[in-house]
Amino acid sequence: MTNKLRYFIANWKMYGDIMSLNSIDKVIKFTRLNKKKKFKLIYCPPYTLLYSFSKKIKNTNIGLGAQNCHSENDYGPYTGYINAKMIKKIGANYVIVGHSENRSYGESNLLINKKIKSAIKNKLNVIFCIGETIVEKKKKHTFRVIKSQIIKGLSGVKYFNKIIIAYEPVWSIGTGIVPTNLELIKNINFIKHILKKNLKAPRIKIIYGGSVNPNNVMNLNLINSIDGYLVGGASQNSKKFIDIVKKSFI
Ligand code: PGA
Repeated sequence: MTNKLRYFIANWKMYGDIMSLNSIDKVIKFTRLNKKKKFKLIYCPPYTLLYSFSKKIKNTNIGLGAQNCHSENDYGPYTGYINAKMIKKIGANYVIVGHSENRSYGESNLLINKKIKSAIKNKLNVIFCIGETIVEKKKKHTFRVIKSQIIKGLSGVKYFNKIIIAYEPVWSIGTGIVPTNLELIKNINFIKHILKKNLKAPRIKIIYGGSVNPNNVMNLNLINSIDGYLVGGASQNSKKFIDIVKKSFI
């Protein structure tokens, strides 16, 4: 395994309340004890916990992100929504955009592109999710789908150093099913090819997401082109989340 920086991003989805905050004490301690190891942990709790999280992780090197944002830069009459400016002001530096759970509610590549631009304008780093559904995979449309998601999602974006791409095949999210290493290598190489050829942005980091857990992470770590993981279910359990990190540095 290489010695490069790896990201471990906890996506808590619609889970967690104020009591769950205490569960990350272990993680804070773990990061303090392992300062020299090259990893970056980022928590993306629900909006309701962002403020408390920002206080909790103050003086640690853990990052904080939201799970989505509105595409409008400014405040406005958008009941129920939160924009990138508000996320930045509450103390977060990251936002997940284009998660398949939101795409499935109708978020288009065009809308996702607007959100990415607004996030960057507000100095947030973007965890930009892409990935094919099982139907698209079966029809052998994976390359076509992820190419269009990347090109449309990043159209007109200038600061590629603010982007982390999370390749998350929809069929692997929350299912316990993980692509084979061969399949992942093939798809990540393709993403790299598109980034280089179409966007002249070969250095964008690429992480994998979908059913990552302490049992499968060592096998995934064999893939050098992966810069880290977006972890859903397993990240809500601090012991499992720490185990995932530990197993990546044995
Ligand atoms: P999972 O979720 O780890 O529970 O599959 C990953 C994600 O949705 O980002």
